[in-house]
Amino acid sequence: LDQLPVLDKDVIVIGAGIAGLFTAIRASKHHDVLMITKKSLLDSNTRYAQGGIAAVFSDEDSPAYHRQDTLIAGAGLCDHEAVDVLVHEGPRGVQSLINMGTQFDLENGEFALTKEGAHSQRRILHANGDATGFEIVRALSENAVSNPRIEVWDDHFVIDLVTEDGECCGAIVQKPSGERLFVRGKATVLCSGGSGQLYRYTTNPEVATGDGVAMAYRAGAYIRDMEFIQFHPTSLCYPGAPRFLISEAVRGEGAVLRNIKGERFMERYHEQLELAPRDVVARAIVSEMEETKSTFVYIDITHESAEMVKHRFPTIYEYCLKYGLDLTADWIPVAPAMHYMMGGVRTDLNGETNIKRLFACGEVSSTGVHGANRLASNSLSEAIVFGRRIVKRIDGLPPLQAKPNVRNEQERISAPIQAVVERRLKLQKIMVRYAGLRRNENGLKKGYEELKRQLPIFQSILTQKEEFEFANLLTCALLTTEAALQREESRGAHYREDFPTRDDLVWRKHTVLHRTQGIT
Ligand code: SIN
Repeated sequence: LDQLPVLDKDVIVIGAGIAGLFTAIRASKHHDVLMITKKSLLDSNTRYAQGGIAAVFSDEDSPAYHRQDTLIAGAGLCDHEAVDVLVHEGPRGVQSLINMGTQFDLENGEFALTKEGAHSQRRILHANGDATGFEIVRALSENAVSNPRIEVWDDHFVIDLVTEDGECCGAIVQKPSGERLFVRGKATVLCSGGSGQLYRYTTNPEVATGDGVAMAYRAGAYIRDMEFIQFHPTSLCYPGAPRFLISEAVRGEGAVLRNIKGERFMERYHEQLELAPRDVVARAIVSEMEETKSTFVYIDITHESAEMVKHRFPTIYEYCLKYGLDLTADWIPVAPAMHYMMGGVRTDLNGETNIKRLFACGEVSSTGVHGANRLASNSLSEAIVFGRRIVKRIDGLPPLQAKPNVRNEQERISAPIQAVVERRLKLQKIMVRYAGLRRNENGLKKGYEELKRQLPIFQSILTQKEEFEFANLLTCALLTTEAALQREESRGAHYREDFPTRDDLVWRKHTVLHRTQGIT
């Protein structure tokens, strides 16, 4: 077989959300950077982030409070050092975002700060009301495309990482034409986001297929805490409408939740009411849905002034209006949906994995910041704080010596796999049914067995993006189910009906999975 053509670059960034853009821009100071995205710079989870970015700016706030809130939400599993990094370096990271052109909302010349669930202080910066992610992506992508040291490849799919002697040397990339090449670099940074598409109901876009976790797993990286999946309590649940996010900031500004009988129910579940941790609110909603035999509850902000609601939440207001729902006057039907993957590729405090020269940043990573449950709006901050550290580490790396030959396997293509879209849907339904908000051993085992029936896909040589994505989702589904089976307790976002309490004696520890365990 012939060898793949080789292209040499300094730094390879895979993914184009906040983690990818921020890391690429900072790395470009000293390196030539290649950014690879499977769709475009405008397609990432970051773009849909509404609530904002958490960092300490108010005089009433302090890193100690931010730390405490993060640790409480993380339910005993946060890495304290990683949290310290986040809370102390967050404001500097935000300043870098501003230097790159991001404009956050101001009030009387100061940052306008809002509150979300489980935050004890107002510390969430936002942009254009509820379009924070969009503003960040706008500013950073403008910055990246005009930067002569950053080359952006849209519509290119990264198939696998290339490693030699425990070192990552780059990645195999498929061009839109189907041709492949080996991009070789002294550092490879996974910024490929999460696995939202594991579940039928998700706030995440189509591109969130867990590619980074799956390829890192295949390459021999440690994958940590995959059982912790955060379900956002309030996604729009209306016939014909996608599961659009109704930001927690809406509750932060006073919205209440009501069951279909109109009763405000959160007082029966938690003292922090609608601003209790997300897992508590999400499970309370499901209980109310079951009790009232409904597929949704309502979020109600009609008691606030219409002017404030429209000014503060223009995106949500306009979106709901498209479906005939008026956020200022109607109760909006909502239900929980998959929102964020807390686990991922294990890294150290410099974002480096157990494979040398392979870094992970943003949702794909498990830095230890989120523990068993992420505090709202900590994800954007995590990406910039660790992105900065990754670049510092890369600056100090010696040149790559390894020159592995990578074979072109395209000759061995088998028949294309049919109906991959249907297979994705089936996988999503299995995950909702057996590995959702409430889990138990029987269900998880059933789900695991059903997922395993799809494994023959790994015996085929794949050619199309959809096939690779399905295979990656399957890996993530098995990792999530396996970790959920292992953790015989309930903690943070992971709830086991058969082990309903937290077990600090046995389980104050992480689940760590490695390909030598033969999960896929
Ligand atoms: C939201 O706006 O509710 C989402 C914020 C987050 O997930 O951090």
